[in-house]
Amino acid sequence: MVKEQIIALIKGKTAHVGVVGLGYVGLPLLVEFASSGFMATGFEVDEGKAAQINAGDSYIGDVPAVVIKGLVEKQRLRAVTDFDHLRECDAVIICVPTPLRKTKEPDVSYILAAAEAIKQRLHTGQLIILESTTYPGTTDEVLLPMFAETGLKLDEDFLLAFSPERVDPGNPEFQTHNIPKVVGGVTPDSTEVAAYLYSQIVNDVHAVSSARVAETAKLLENTFRAVNIGMANEMARLCYALNIDTWEVIRAAATKPFGFMPFYPGPGIGGHCIPLDPHYLSWKARQHGFDSRFIGLAEEVNSRMPEHVVQLVSDGLNDESKSMKGSRILLLGVAYKKDIDDVRESPALSIIDRLRAKGAEVRYHDPFVKEVHFDDAHTEGGGEPLSSVSLTDEELSGSDCVVIVTDHSATDYQRVCRLCSLIVDTRNALNGDVRRDSTARIVRL
Ligand SMILES: NC(=O)c1ccc[n+]([C@@H]2O[C@H](COP(=O)([O-])OP(=O)(O)OC[C@H]3O[C@@H](n4cnc5c(N)ncnc54)[C@H](O)[C@@H]3O)[C@@H](O)[C@H]2O)c1
Repeated sequence: MVKEQIIALIKGKTAHVGVVGLGYVGLPLLVEFASSGFMATGFEVDEGKAAQINAGDSYIGDVPAVVIKGLVEKQRLRAVTDFDHLRECDAVIICVPTPLRKTKEPDVSYILAAAEAIKQRLHTGQLIILESTTYPGTTDEVLLPMFAETGLKLDEDFLLAFSPERVDPGNPEFQTHNIPKVVGGVTPDSTEVAAYLYSQIVNDVHAVSSARVAETAKLLENTFRAVNIGMANEMARLCYALNIDTWEVIRAAATKPFGFMPFYPGPGIGGHCIPLDPHYLSWKARQHGFDSRFIGLAEEVNSRMPEHVVQLVSDGLNDESKSMKGSRILLLGVAYKKDIDDVRESPALSIIDRLRAKGAEVRYHDPFVKEVHFDDAHTEGGGEPLSSVSLTDEELSGSDCVVIVTDHSATDYQRVCRLCSLIVDTRNALNGDVRRDSTARIVRL
């Protein structure tokens, strides 16, 4: 039986684990398996990334190069671009991107490409696990029929499961090993073996009855965040209209020890998960004639935040008898959240685009992001990439307005307040003491 066969290999740490897609999710996972004593091979389409890993280098902030180097030297870890090495793997985990099409429909083409590569090399004794976030039914309805076309039989020859990734880049407290892992197989054997594999690297594995439940659990988690952030953003705009400090309101409400969980407003949501994943769920719901209204509403509220930030800048300048056109605006931070280098879906891009469209001269400083590119820019000069500027005294004092978009920890906010005349703080980065001592005019979300 394939189940016993794979379990024995895992138990003896002789199972060879393959990870397809070595990004924010795949690389930490690969390192975790290699560190736990397994032979781990990463499969990448990007030759540059594979070469970096094999040279003992890292391009993911949470994965130290020294760890990769040690594992490569011990010949426990390698990255390859030749997918024929999939034949050597006993377990293969798919961690490729799942973006949206321009129409906001799921784009599972990366999953399909990875699955096709696996299908061509599928053989008896393999466990395949999908980790990429996707709509409920992908594992059962898309992957299983593909693998079944080989003539190999589920449970007799191979096993198939879904296990969502919950990595939180830049979070030093929670890393792969101490984030509980949900696992759902398309058969009970698949669930059992996939759960056993993850139990080698994760403290707590939660098995569920099907791949669909695991797929949906992931989408619930991220939709929960999107909806609650949407609520916090709406509250912030409501409080702004009523001239009430929204941050103080949230702090006060959060003293309730039950029935309340604080979520915070901001310039808009970003990253590869929260802005995208709920669309996977609402798309699938629509296929079944169901209209998920919370998802649509949250998207509407969250996607309007960059526009609101630009309005705050415009109002702030106006109060100083300045127009947006020709003003010099400095953004502090363009990453979608603090202390990371990821600008995917970052609201900063939309804010820059809108400020430029109104004729402002926009610059930014971000210690993590050297350059940003604008794919869909439609404004004059909008297509030009922007490079991070040094945070000199002149840069701060010469700006008509400074907008704190990402509250990176290393920024000296006292200095910012000392040198700037107008600051729009979208993250409540300037705490009470800093604000009290400041001579700058501070507009908060
Ligand atoms: N980044 C996060 O914080 C996070 C958290 C939880 C879940 N996820 C989910 O995990 C999945 C991966 O996200 P990510 O952030 O790691 O993406 P990423 O873009 O950082 O990495 C994906 C990697 O896959 C590679 N790739 C693409 N097609 C490939 C193929 N056919 N074969 C081999 N490699 C291929 C890309 O070159 C890239 O290196 C997505 O579904 C995402 O929604 C991401």
